[in-house]
Amino acid sequence: MDDPAIFICASEVLKDGGKGVRFPLTAGGEDGVGFVVRYGSTVYGYLNRCAHVPIELDWNEGEFFESSGLYLMCSTHGAIYFPENGKCAGGPCRGGRLRSIRVFEKDNQVFWQPDDYIRPVRA
Ligand code: FES
Repeated sequence: MDDPAIFICASEVLKDGGKGVRFPLTAGGEDGVGFVVRYGSTVYGYLNRCAHVPIELDWNEGEFFESSGLYLMCSTHGAIYFPENGKCAGGPCRGGRLRSIRVFEKDNQVFWQPDDYIRPVRA
């Protein structure tokens, strides 16, 4: 059976190409951060970890899109990723991709779904 989904934020907080919302998790047993953004009308969730060097992407908390609003960008060396699938679109992440996290909207709220690797924070 699936683990229960975990609330992240209200749907209205996420604007198309706008700021994302971070949430705590564990990834392979280590403390980490996930994030969710809206692109088009859909929400997408990823582990906040660059595929180039495993550090967080956002330079200002929640700022994941580069200025065009078309790509997610790592602020450190400029890797860019397609928001809809997390694949590297250019820069030093070449060939890599962000680890996606299952997210969905229900009753105007956004939730994430733990899996075998991305787990809730320890109590
Ligand atoms: S660490 Fe993200 S682009 Fe290098």
